[in-house]
Amino acid sequence: MNAEFKRYKDIVEDNIIGCLPEIDHKSEILYDSMKYSLTSGGKRIRSVLLLAAAELCGASFTEAIPYACAVEYIQTYSLIHDDHPCMDNDDYRRGKLTNHKVFGDGMAMLAGDGLLSSAYEVMTKDMLLYLDDPEKLNRRVRAIYELSKGTGVRGMVAGQVADLESEHKDVSPDMLAFIHMNKTAAFIKSSVMAGAYIGGADSDVLRRFSVYGESLGLAFQIIDDIQDVIGTKESRGKDVGGDAEAEKATYPALFGIEKSKEYAQELLDKARNAIDFFKGKAESLFFVIDYLEQQIKD
Ligand code: IPE
Ligand code: IPE
Ligand code: MG
Ligand code: MG
Ligand code: MG
Repeated sequence: MNAEFKRYKDIVEDNIIGCLPEIDHKSEILYDSMKYSLTSGGKRIRSVLLLAAAELCGASFTEAIPYACAVEYIQTYSLIHDDHPCMDNDDYRRGKLTNHKVFGDGMAMLAGDGLLSSAYEVMTKDMLLYLDDPEKLNRRVRAIYELSKGTGVRGMVAGQVADLESEHKDVSPDMLAFIHMNKTAAFIKSSVMAGAYIGGADSDVLRRFSVYGESLGLAFQIIDDIQDVIGTKESRGKDVGGDAEAEKATYPALFGIEKSKEYAQELLDKARNAIDFFKGKAESLFFVIDYLEQQIKD
């Protein structure tokens, strides 16, 4: 792993539990359930992108920590719900039993709810520190707005709806692009953009990050789909073959593995081009591209 990526990942690991709102001991089972999934070994890609973008644009990483943790709370909530029997019905995640397998269906739903609302509690609590600094407050409002859009009803949630609705159906390439743009790319893009806003990025940098985040995010989901066909349970920490079983709308299903790899490579090239400007800095942003590229090499 790249040293800069590891440094940011360690910052996330060191803060992810401490940043959570305090939970009454009467709700200990909720805390245990949230903590179980938060500490079960995510790659932390979205939060690292946020920290890297924030630092690159001029913030100190400490300023961005609440937002990086919030991103992982949203990511973990989305996976707990995605794995639930009423959605993808998966038994393994991050190499461990899924939340509902350990805590039951109801608690898994609530742990997801708790993580989502904690994300906004942590971010807005941080904003209260900046009420006397309109410039920094403004940057944070923009970051939260970006994350709300990327993960909400015109982002990730919309994509998850379309994903569910498209099971066992023939979908058009246009619909497939809509699903992947929304369920995955929108969140990844908004994580980078949120970091850029916190750092006070100018419009040229915001534009570059927008292209980077969207291209990287779309490639991310296409490669996840490819690995669901050619990968192993050991390397992925989750069962493989579930997409074909549920007749999900995926790039390999519509276009085959080779065409999907070619398209993912084009998107990674586009992402790399968009941030070429920063060469020598922000190694984590380049590392994520390399990491994904490795998975589509023969
Ligand atoms: C999984 O995301 C969900 C998809 C968009 C495919 P990650 O592969 O980033 O999951 P973690 O957080 O590292 O477990
Ligand atoms: C869903 O994509 C990603 C989310 C928005 C949670 P998948 O359903 O393909 O993710 P995995 O393969 O279960 O991680
Ligand atoms: Mg899914
Ligand atoms: Mg899934
Ligand atoms: Mg998948």
